[in-house]
Amino acid sequence: MEYLILKYLHILSATFLFGTGIGTAFFMLMAYISKNIETIKYTTKHVVLADWVFTTPAVILQPITGIWLMLILHYPFNTLWFFLVIGLYLLAGLCWLPVVLIQYRLHKMVVNMQTENLPKQFHLLIRWWIALGIPAFISLLVVYWLMVTKQGLSIQF
Ligand code: HEM
Repeated sequence: MEYLILKYLHILSATFLFGTGIGTAFFMLMAYISKNIETIKYTTKHVVLADWVFTTPAVILQPITGIWLMLILHYPFNTLWFFLVIGLYLLAGLCWLPVVLIQYRLHKMVVNMQTENLPKQFHLLIRWWIALGIPAFISLLVVYWLMVTKQGLSIQF
């Protein structure tokens, strides 16, 4: 029962993590493309909120439930599988942290704006936001693959 509850929580938080990431990225991009300041203002505000409410708890819960599952299943920690999972998870996290900061700065930039033209800095930060989002997204796709296939689990160091 403990195993099933943990696995349920693990998969649920993976869904929140990935789903919120892809959903907020889509709406941010749509808001940016619209060039409508009011849309950008509200979207950046809600994206920052969604990251606090959904992504942050999922980011914390994911490794806790994952490692707990490993202990229950007696998965060794010195495997290629674990090395890749942790490496990719850290890479995604390292990309995600500046992304959160960028989203906050984008919101601060537009919240009191009077003109209809986005500042140069906004376009520059959006480029960084995309550049960091892509490796984070790919890393999580590979982690999903590793979770489902367990490839590398039999290769021990
Ligand atoms: C952070 C370190 C992580 C560890 C240590 C970990 C560990 C595990 C373990 C031990 C299982 C159970 C496998 C089983 O019941 O046979 C599992 C399943 C799963 N994990 Fe993770 N996980 C981690 C991160 C993630 C991430 C980031 C995602 C996706 C965003 C994810 C998605 C899944 C999914 C979908 C399953 C179910 C796979 C299946 O039943 O075939 N995990 N994970």
